[in-house]
Amino acid sequence: MGKPMIMGRKTFESIGKPLPGRETIVLTRDAGFAAEGVHVAHSWDEAVAKGAELAARMGADSVAVVGGAEIYALALPHVQSIFLTEVRVAPEGDAVFPDFDRSQFRETRREDHPKGPDDEHPFTFIDLERRP
Ligand SMILES: NC(=O)c1ccc[n+]([C@@H]2O[C@H](COP(=O)([O-])OP(=O)(O)OC[C@H]3O[C@@H](n4cnc5c(N)ncnc54)[C@H](OP(=O)(O)O)[C@@H]3O)[C@@H](O)[C@H]2O)c1
Repeated sequence: MGKPMIMGRKTFESIGKPLPGRETIVLTRDAGFAAEGVHVAHSWDEAVAKGAELAARMGADSVAVVGGAEIYALALPHVQSIFLTEVRVAPEGDAVFPDFDRSQFRETRREDHPKGPDDEHPFTFIDLERRP
């Protein structure tokens, strides 16, 4: 909340609208793409520049990257922090969070959650911070 977020065009279309309390930057190669209430970028560098500009305007200290798989792959070499949720299940799927070198990151939080009444599976929150 309160930050700009960069997302891929497919993720945006799966949500279908801008989320409240944030600024949405949609990354697409489609020069004709437009949607109400969102910013559009056509390259990673343009998305980051727009994110930095919006963060300054919003008084935010960071820009969030919220997927999907293609956009995580673009972002991973550049990110400072990763907020990972590991869900204890192995479903079939066609979009996969990319492999990355965990040794480049220091774990700053690990919180195991058993399956609660509203959950389908147990899960773990893991915060990672890039090593200097
Ligand atoms: N679990 C999670 O944390 C999480 C988070 C988000 C999404 N998801 C899921 O992930 C799936 C979508 O992931 P995805 O990998 O298929 O798609 P995506 O990353 O959301 O979007 C891919 C699109 O981004 C654009 N794009 C990619 N690289 C680009 C570049 N270098 N420059 C400009 N535009 C670029 C292209 O849009 P155009 O085709 O328009 O050019 C591409 O088709 C959905 O099922 C969603 O629900 C999961």
